[in-house]
Amino acid sequence: ATSHTYEHLKVSTPKPGVALITLHRPRALNALFTPLLVELNSALHKLNTDASIGAIVLTGSEKAFAAGADIKEMKDKSFSDAYGTDFIEMWSDMTTAVKKPVISAVNGYALGGGCELAMMADIMYVSAGATLGQPEIKLGTIPGAGGSQRLTRAVGKAKAMELILTGDSFSGKEAADWGLAAKVFDTPEQCVEGALSTAEKIASMSQIAVKAAKEVVNKSQDLGIREGVDFERRVFHSLFGSKDQKIEESRYEEVQRIQVKLL
Ligand code: CAA
Repeated sequence: ATSHTYEHLKVSTPKPGVALITLHRPRALNALFTPLLVELNSALHKLNTDASIGAIVLTGSEKAFAAGADIKEMKDKSFSDAYGTDFIEMWSDMTTAVKKPVISAVNGYALGGGCELAMMADIMYVSAGATLGQPEIKLGTIPGAGGSQRLTRAVGKAKAMELILTGDSFSGKEAADWGLAAKVFDTPEQCVEGALSTAEKIASMSQIAVKAAKEVVNKSQDLGIREGVDFERRVFHSLFGSKDQKIEESRYEEVQRIQVKLL
């Protein structure tokens, strides 16, 4: 994926095992029109099967992570167009197809579909001054890429309902205070750097264990506690069959050294 050229994305490998996807449609503040999503899916699919990549960072520009679904693309859509093409369904590739962890590094505007894309990532990092929100209600519509579900699970019903019904935006700092973002940074640069460092740390772990960990944590969003814990135990048991779990005694010291270095 890194050698492929895209029109609306940049893909690079700034650190060992880490791919960085930068949304790049500057003239429209990275508004998420279909050609960009087709490219994003293509890049994600390639990285997902690239054995040299252990984690993916998704970011935009300093001004905008993404200013939403493309308003111009949406404005003349009929019900039949939207229903007939299952509009926005293709956005979910990031959550259904990608087994490796994705970290969103959110700077500037992340509105509507932009906020939803950021929330689809496994971990969200933000800069304090970022502007997030679900403003769809102001356009006579509602979030269509999972916003009503993911925001509500992350921040609770009271806050999510207020945000979605008013369309009010919120800052990166608030996103972190409410637990939607895992970390907040002072500047956009630090936010991307922070995401890359975390991705590097994750990429240094057993890829099998990382995939399993992502899978079981995500299951917690769908299952009740009992089924969730059962599912976790099954996956936990299965990892006893992996080579990565079999650290030879002679390697303990080396593994410990690596862990200390990573701390
Ligand atoms: N779709 C298409 N184009 C967009 C866009 C969007 N969502 N957001 C910004 N742009 C374009 C603008 O049209 C403008 O293009 P032109 O120069 O050709 O006119 C360019 O990006 C720069 O934007 P602004 O001049 O508006 O920049 P600004 O700094 O003055 O304002 C902003 C920034 C507050 C983010 C403003 O652009 C804005 O409000 N954008 C729309 C945000 C929004 O409502 N997003 C939700 C979309 S609905 C949705 O996402 C549905 C869903 O759930 C999937």
